[in-house]
Amino acid sequence: MPSADPATSSVITLQINGEKHTLPVDHRTTLLDALRERLDLTGTKKGCDHGQCGACTVLVGGRRTVACLQLAVAAEGREITTIEGVSEGDALHPVQQAFVDLDGYQCGYCTPGQICSALAVIEEHAAGWPSAVTEDVSPEAAPPPLSPEEIRERMSGNLCRCGAYVSIVRAVAQAAAATQKETVA
Ligand code: FES
Ligand code: FES
Repeated sequence: MPSADPATSSVITLQINGEKHTLPVDHRTTLLDALRERLDLTGTKKGCDHGQCGACTVLVGGRRTVACLQLAVAAEGREITTIEGVSEGDALHPVQQAFVDLDGYQCGYCTPGQICSALAVIEEHAAGWPSAVTEDVSPEAAPPPLSPEEIRERMSGNLCRCGAYVSIVRAVAQAAAATQKETVA
């Protein structure tokens, strides 16, 4: 087998769900393809492959990232969380439990991305980050409650072909209440 050309490929180490994975990759390999095709982490789904559907959402450094638009080489050294790393063993994360309790999925194809996005949405909101529908964004304003409107806006990058949105909004609200003990309007 010919050795890899260093002009077009590199050996990288990715830190995924607390484990290190070292692998050679072509520099054009997306994080999504590295996860699914090279590391068998197929929980992350490929929908559009163009950054438009959110199915491939993972957390990179705690921030929501569409893995189809992220090069694997650019993710080296960052902490990556995929759906496989969300539960604690057999114990579902409150966001996962809420999706189960409230039927936040139908076919389930978009669900890993929805759940990764919801994890970050709840953290972003708890940190006081405004969204496009937050009315008062002045520094002295109290954080808005995580209302259905806020959840819809903050989750709007994740599409669901089945239209499970009503249940997804309820599931995110339940999970936020469970994790933040805050009032959900
Ligand atoms: S597959 Fe990445 S946004 Fe659709
Ligand atoms: S549950 Fe089927 S695409 Fe969302």
